[in-house]
Amino acid sequence: MSVKKVYVDHSATSPVDPLVLEAMLPYFSDRFGNPSALYSQGRDAHEGVEVARAKVADALGAEADEIIFTSGGTESDNLGIIGTALAREQMKGHVITSSIEHLAVLNSCKHLEECGIDVTYLPVNEYGEVGLDVLQDAMRDDTFLVSIGYANQEIGTIQKIGEMAEIAHDNGALLHTDAVQAVGKVPINVKDLDVDLLTLSGHKIYGPKGIGALYVKKGVSIEPMQHGGGHERRLRAGTENVPGIVGLGRAMELGQEWLETDIPRIKGLRDRLISGILGSIENSYLNGHPDRRLPHNAHFRFSFIEGEAILLNLDYYGISASTGSACSSRSLKASHVLLAIGLKHEDAHGSLRFTLGRSNTEEDIDWLLVKVPEIVAKLREISPLGRGADKER
Ligand SMILES: Cc1ncc(COP(=O)(O)O)c(C=O)c1O
Repeated sequence: MSVKKVYVDHSATSPVDPLVLEAMLPYFSDRFGNPSALYSQGRDAHEGVEVARAKVADALGAEADEIIFTSGGTESDNLGIIGTALAREQMKGHVITSSIEHLAVLNSCKHLEECGIDVTYLPVNEYGEVGLDVLQDAMRDDTFLVSIGYANQEIGTIQKIGEMAEIAHDNGALLHTDAVQAVGKVPINVKDLDVDLLTLSGHKIYGPKGIGALYVKKGVSIEPMQHGGGHERRLRAGTENVPGIVGLGRAMELGQEWLETDIPRIKGLRDRLISGILGSIENSYLNGHPDRRLPHNAHFRFSFIEGEAILLNLDYYGISASTGSACSSRSLKASHVLLAIGLKHEDAHGSLRFTLGRSNTEEDIDWLLVKVPEIVAKLREISPLGRGADKER
C-alpha cells in the first residue's frame, strides 16, 4: 500500500522550489566559473552572485553591500554574535539574549562567556514573549549586543523586535535578530525595524541547504571568524557557493510574492488545524502565543502521552511532523523552549509541532484531523496516565 505523504515540518526544512532549482542549475554547469576570476566565465558567476545579493537585499529593504553570504543560519548567528564581540577592543562587556533562542545563538553566547563576556539569558512569559521591560531592566552600561530571535523555531511566537532595537540603541548596544523562521513568513524590513544584524537561511524558504546570509547594517563593525581571501567584504573568506547563492536570491524573490498569495492560504489551513485539533481532542492545548505567532506554525501539547509516540504513529500514516526544533529532535531531553515557557517535563514531552507549507492542501488538513485524534486516543488508551483522560475536563 502506498501511503500519501503529508509533510508538515517546514520549520525543519523545506523542499527546493522547482523555480529555485531552475535558477541554480546553470551555475553547476555552463556558469561554473570562479566569481573571483577575471575572464568571462568568472564574470558570469560573479554576476550571478551580485544579482542574488541585490534580490536578498531588496526583499529585506537593505542595500546590496549590507548582505554577507554564509553557509546558513548557524554560521550567520556565529558571525553576527561572535564577530561583534571580536570587533571590540577587548573581550569584555555584556551580551543579552533569551532562554528560548536556537542553539546556534545560545552556543555562540556560551562561547562568548568562555571568552570572558557576561551573558544574560532573559526569561520569557508563558507564550514565549520576551518582555520589553524585562529587556530594559537587563541593560547595563557595558551591554554591547542584544540577540533575540524574530520568531521562535518551536512555538512560533513573534517578538517585538523593532521596540527591542530601540531599547538596545537607547542604551548604546547593537541588536541582532535570528530571523531564520520568520523570513518568507512575515514581511520584514530591516530599515523599519532598525536592526543592526539579521540572520537568514536558505533551506527554510524553499531554497537549498548550506546557504544563508547575514545582514550587517552599514557602519556596524564585525570581525570575520573565517580567514583566507577577501571574499564577502573580507568578512567570510572562501570561494562563494555560487549555485546556493543564486538559489537563495531566487527563493527570497519568490518569497516576497508568496507572502501575499500562499501565506494567507497557509494561515487559513493552519487556523483550521488548530481549531479542529483543540475542538476534537480533550486535554489538548496550543503552545505559544495565540495571535503573535508565525502563520504556518501550530504547536500542541497533549496531556498523558509522549510526543515521540504520536510522531512515530503519524509517520506510519505518511505524516511528517516534529517534536522539537530540527537540531534537537533526536535528543530525548525536554525542549529548553517548552521548559522556559513553564511547561512541566511531562507536558514538554507531550508536545508536537506542525509547520505547514506551500504543498499542503485542505485534504492534508482533513487527513491530520482524522489521524491525530485517532492516534492520541489510541495512545491514551494504552498509557496508564491516559486512561480516563477524556473524563478529566
Ligand atoms: C531559528 C533558527 N536559527 C538557526 C537555524 C540554523 O540554520 P541552518 O540550518 O541554516 O544552519 C535554524 C534551523 O533550524 C533555526 O530554526
